[in-house]
Amino acid sequence: MNSEVSGRPRVIDNVAALRAWLGACRGSGRSLGLVPTMGALHEGHLSLVRASRARCDATAVTIFVNPTQFGPHEDLTRYPRTLEADLDALAEVRADVVFTPPVELMYPAGFSTYVEPPEVARPWEGVCRPTHFRGVATVVLKLFQLLPADVAFFGQKDFQQCLVVRRMVRDLNVPIEIQVCPIVREPDGLAMSSRNRYLSPAERQQALALSRGLRVAGELVERDQREAAEILARVRGELRAAGIERIDYVALANPDTLAEVERVAPSAVLLLAAYVGSTRLIDNCLLGECLLGDGSPLDEPRE
Ligand code: PAJ
Repeated sequence: MNSEVSGRPRVIDNVAALRAWLGACRGSGRSLGLVPTMGALHEGHLSLVRASRARCDATAVTIFVNPTQFGPHEDLTRYPRTLEADLDALAEVRADVVFTPPVELMYPAGFSTYVEPPEVARPWEGVCRPTHFRGVATVVLKLFQLLPADVAFFGQKDFQQCLVVRRMVRDLNVPIEIQVCPIVREPDGLAMSSRNRYLSPAERQQALALSRGLRVAGELVERDQREAAEILARVRGELRAAGIERIDYVALANPDTLAEVERVAPSAVLLLAAYVGSTRLIDNCLLGECLLGDGSPLDEPRE
């Protein structure tokens, strides 16, 4: 169906059409916002599109399930692909263009050039998923090359990914601003994720222990408990009480370097990754004196 009739964004899957659209965009002096995704869109993704529409004249969303960021035993083949529903959702929030590159466009035969991700990629996710951030950094840089936007929008849901992208952009002088947007949660607290659809109803209930753990930690800090050991024990307790046994990490880290901290002083990020059944979920929150928009490391550095 013609996109103007359906209200759907225009779908582009090749470089020639992309260049023509970008040329028209630049020609009319419009600023461009970019929202990279792997599809299976939910309100978290849509909040990024809304943020882009609020700041930029045109918004491009990319949907690409990036094979290089999945480990050999991860969920690449079963990752949800829901393009029709995604386009309907993007019509609602009025994205202008959706770029859906075929895999050969991103990874032509003989592809062998990767971005070596920054130091901040090493701990936490970097330990559990050793090649993940190399794949993320590589595909994000490629998307920035293909769609040289003014601002790119990322979610705090993937806290470490935000830092990796920020550092990469700074280290490689990529002329794009990174804006980080807050985590969107279900009414009961579960952070929205494309992987939530893997959860059975019972697992969906169990998964609430993640956000409950973060909330308990926030309450402890408010009551002036600053010791990492105490806070982490309580968060792990919440997970175990819900029957979550396979915990990749529950950690308090410096929100700028991701180095582990022993105290929340003055601030820290609480990061967690755990399996609910066979589904790996992550969540995080900032603790202490560092709320978003208030000098947090996720704000764009002021120079
Ligand atoms: P994906 O998991 O599809 O997420 C796309 C963007 O949506 C990311 O910036 C992510 O942090 C954000 N997001 C996901 N859930 C969110 C939530 N509940 N609230 C707010 N934002 C949320 O992250 C990726 O894809 C990929 O690694 C990608 C950057 C596209 C590179 O392949």
